[in-house]
Amino acid sequence: MNSSSHLSPPKRISPSRSRVPAHYADDIEQMLISAPRIRSRVAEMAKVIAGDYQGKRLVVVALLNGTILFLADLIRHFEFPLSMDLIGVSSYRGGTSSGELEYTKRLKLDLRDQHVLVVDDILDTGKTLCAVKSELAKQRPASLRTCVLLDKPEGRKTECEADYVGFVVPHLFVVGYGLDYDERYRNLPFVGVLRPHVYGAPAGSKS
Ligand code: XMP
Repeated sequence: MNSSSHLSPPKRISPSRSRVPAHYADDIEQMLISAPRIRSRVAEMAKVIAGDYQGKRLVVVALLNGTILFLADLIRHFEFPLSMDLIGVSSYRGGTSSGELEYTKRLKLDLRDQHVLVVDDILDTGKTLCAVKSELAKQRPASLRTCVLLDKPEGRKTECEADYVGFVVPHLFVVGYGLDYDERYRNLPFVGVLRPHVYGAPAGSKS
């Protein structure tokens, strides 16, 4: 497959001017990416991806659980047949730092000779996406690309970059639009920065 892509480079996000809704204000320090901004970037990403896979049968492999909203919004733009499977991998438990990987759901689809797009919520240390990518590569797909909503480059501990990136975010613990802290906040329609007191850190500290 030719190299991707005509996606405009992800801008480094500075906080949105939109206010955090009052009922979330005790837990969310600031809104980083508003819902309309997410919507328009996801549409842009989908358009570029659709163009890159024109005439090919795409297999989307998404990582649980953080991709749920991003995945649903992204794939509903695709007006062509595709197959989809989910892989369960968890890199941390009830905390804010990336730990050991644990597979909680394996793939059912056979990826041999398929054009595979791996979808993840956030690229932080790079450990999760790279481990999953190497695992899937063993099945010898025809092509294997990665797509993340958020990229936190300052967290990187391995050489791992995604082919399609929605937004570059600062080195802060973010929640919302599928991303959680202790399984909370996944339903927020925006991406926000969690107040450190929620995870027991002193105010002003980073994750
Ligand atoms: P790595 O470090 O392996 O991390 O690139 C990827 C996974 O870690 C989780 N993660 C986060 N989850 N807010 C979250 O809600 C964050 O700021 C954050 N940083 C990393 C996430 O599950 C991701 O797939």
